[in-house]
Amino acid sequence: MLNGKRVLLIVAGGIAAFKCHDLIRKLRGQGAHVRCVLTDAGARFVTPLSLQALSEDKVYTDMFSLTDESEMGHIQLSRDADLLVVAPATANILARMAAGMADDLAATVLLATDKPVLAAPAMNVRMWSHAATVANVETLKKRGITFVGPNDGAMACNEYGPGRMSEPAEIVTAIEALLTTSSALKGKRALVTSGPTREAIDPVRYISNHSSGKQGHAIASALARLGADVTLVSGPVNVADPVGVKLVKIESADQMLEACLAAGKLDVAIFAAAVADWKSAKPADAKIKKKPGAPPPALELTPNPDILATVSKPGAQRPTLVVGFAAETENLVANAIDKRTRKGCDWIVANDVSPATGTFGGERNTVHLVTADGVEEWPTLAKDEVAARLADRIAQQLGRPRAVKAAE
Ligand code: C5P
Repeated sequence: MLNGKRVLLIVAGGIAAFKCHDLIRKLRGQGAHVRCVLTDAGARFVTPLSLQALSEDKVYTDMFSLTDESEMGHIQLSRDADLLVVAPATANILARMAAGMADDLAATVLLATDKPVLAAPAMNVRMWSHAATVANVETLKKRGITFVGPNDGAMACNEYGPGRMSEPAEIVTAIEALLTTSSALKGKRALVTSGPTREAIDPVRYISNHSSGKQGHAIASALARLGADVTLVSGPVNVADPVGVKLVKIESADQMLEACLAAGKLDVAIFAAAVADWKSAKPADAKIKKKPGAPPPALELTPNPDILATVSKPGAQRPTLVVGFAAETENLVANAIDKRTRKGCDWIVANDVSPATGTFGGERNTVHLVTADGVEEWPTLAKDEVAARLADRIAQQLGRPRAVKAAE
């Protein structure tokens, strides 16, 4: 997807710099050219030699190097790139970018560029939540800089929280989102649901499922890449926020339904979320206490609203195209065909989620697309590729003239 694209990778000084090796490998695997700028602090974590070996290009470190400046001036470094990526983006380099400083080669290139910039922050959790960093990130976002991550997780400093740099695969997805846009869905409004829902039993316990949100988030990204105006309504997930998408975070199915209905008139709606079928009939206001010798409490369940069926109902507000998902462990196609009619949607993307397939939480998916015309069997693909293919099919469908009824 990145064939021939030129990425200028700016590596600043953080422990996450080691992930750049994998990032360069993945970008080159997609056909991109990668050239690196390494800060002095970055060179404490990775060497110019390792970056040079992996990128197969010269690594730039020094603003005052006569040879570097004569071969490739700092302005030329950014002119030659399609995109600048700062990874890891430390608190320090974000502060220097926000302040417009030009005190080393990396900061100067970032100040001199008119190319899109993607930053992948990585720092201690308290540095990330410090008011200074929050303000710097805000300023940079207003100036059009795109952020991927940081993720929550265990950190090198033995703390836990947001601050871990996104994984190389997530950064590559964000780069694709910035570099491979088209206008096939320009002017179209899309809604995607993703991830699990959480249904409270009491303030500390809930009912949920294993959905990772990877497929739904990938679909939202793929639609945005085709120029659609995308709203992503997502339950709690641990994947990076997609670039160029309006994200609405919810917990319960009721909240998901409300957010979907608030999205207004849509051209296409895709329901990839694994919505809990039931919720507690009476969630407790306080934590349910264990009482010695007492039997476990009975949990009375009540059905959740069916969001897909609600949005599929005929009417002026119905999106032109409604796509549901069917996650099945047996009789995949027969169940999906039945579900399409029962729910009133136009298409069903059916996927086998038996544990042996590794679909839940995994990187790949094997799907069947069930439409009014029949069943298409797709090969096993990366979830990103399933998303790209589905987005292309949606663009084709929305581009078709509406069927005219015989009687008209
Ligand atoms: O009925 P089932 O859960 O198998 O249907 C799956 C499809 O319906 C998925 O597209 C899912 O996002 C959607 N769904 C929904 N609201 C529910 C249950 C499922 O939107 N309460």
